Amino acid sequence: MERFFDHVTSAAEQGTLVKMTLSKPANKHDELRNIYVKPVLIKDKRLFAFTYRYERRDEVKNYDAEQMLEVLKEMLPTRFLNAVLFTVNEDVTLLVSTKGKATIQTKKVQECREQNLEHDKQKARLINPANPWWYQLGLTTREGKITADMQHKFKQIYKYAEIVESLVKPMKFDGTVHIAGMGAGKGYLTFALYELLTQKMHLDVDIKGVEIRPDLVLKINEIIKSPGLKGLEFVESSIDAFRPEKLDVLIALHACNTATDDAIAKGIRAGAKLIVCAPCCHKQIRQEMERSGKLDAITRYGIFLERQAVMITDTIRALMMEYYGYKTQVMEFIEMEHTPKNVLLVGQKTNKEPDKLMISKQISDLKQRYGIQNHYLETIL
Ligand SMILES: C[S@@+](CC[C@H](N)C(=O)[O-])C[C@H]1O[C@@H](n2cnc3c(N)ncnc32)[C@H](O)[C@@H]1O
Repeated sequence: MERFFDHVTSAAEQGTLVKMTLSKPANKHDELRNIYVKPVLIKDKRLFAFTYRYERRDEVKNYDAEQMLEVLKEMLPTRFLNAVLFTVNEDVTLLVSTKGKATIQTKKVQECREQNLEHDKQKARLINPANPWWYQLGLTTREGKITADMQHKFKQIYKYAEIVESLVKPMKFDGTVHIAGMGAGKGYLTFALYELLTQKMHLDVDIKGVEIRPDLVLKINEIIKSPGLKGLEFVESSIDAFRPEKLDVLIALHACNTATDDAIAKGIRAGAKLIVCAPCCHKQIRQEMERSGKLDAITRYGIFLERQAVMITDTIRALMMEYYGYKTQVMEFIEMEHTPKNVLLVGQKTNKEPDKLMISKQISDLKQRYGIQNHYLETIL
């Protein structure tokens, strides 16, 4: 018995315990049929979740390593005669005979096992609102609860991060991943990506949040300093003036009007492998359309003019990325109720030679149709 408890103690100490089961009740009529144990991480504390399986219900209790051992000593062999400890490298089986004789068997495991520290009730999250910076950024309460007025913002950055995760996963990087968050504002998306890439994807990153407002940059860099987030920094600069040494991934969430164009241009020029932008307002093209006087039956209504401006601006942005060898996708990244600015433009660099002539023609046809003299992104590129 002691040897079995020693195995449990060392697996708990070394963090190699994968799971444990207690079965074969000593009393056939015991309502408690078995116990299933798994390690869990709750608020960064490693605990052990005991699921007590009764005839008609389950009960879950979490213990630390010391309490776990106390419970095991109460249960073995008084309540259960068998127990199996599964660790990352061995299985240890304890068998107690009805006469009370205990034997243990150990078996090395061939397959590579991993611990699953996910708490059953806690979804594996890309962003953990309990991280202290979310409170400092004003997204959560001190206890790590997302405040009522930031729910929509949280959903936006969460969905955005989910999409970036799926896009980054298959990509190959040469060491540190260089990322720029353009028009980084209060930093919500930049921090979300920092968390996703470092804590979930375990990548080595150099993330620069590029923001023109000095007050915001100062404030955010203070927040970065306190927990010492390595590889994250806010830079006071216009997008246009920002000169990255290297750029793998460019992101922008709601960079105002033509700031999105500046961001895309920067990504293209720096040879970013991935560009992901959720544009903000589309004033530049709307004004061009209004000025041209070519309003048709649809665009004479303000709201439809607005929507057409969105479609034309973003279609030409996508075409420009294609012109420079990107494969593009345009999607809604979140339901409209969370933000009407829910279009996401994605550009993935390819090695394919684009049909520049055809793309140029598509752009000029669109411009002509809507009386547009100048599309800002096309002009600056
Ligand atoms: C709506 S906020 C962006 C929100 C932010 N991306 C987030 O994750 O919460 C837009 C930000 O872009 C900044 N901005 C606008 N034009 C810019 C430019 N040309 N260069 C740098 N920053 C710019 C603004 O100062 C503002 O803070």
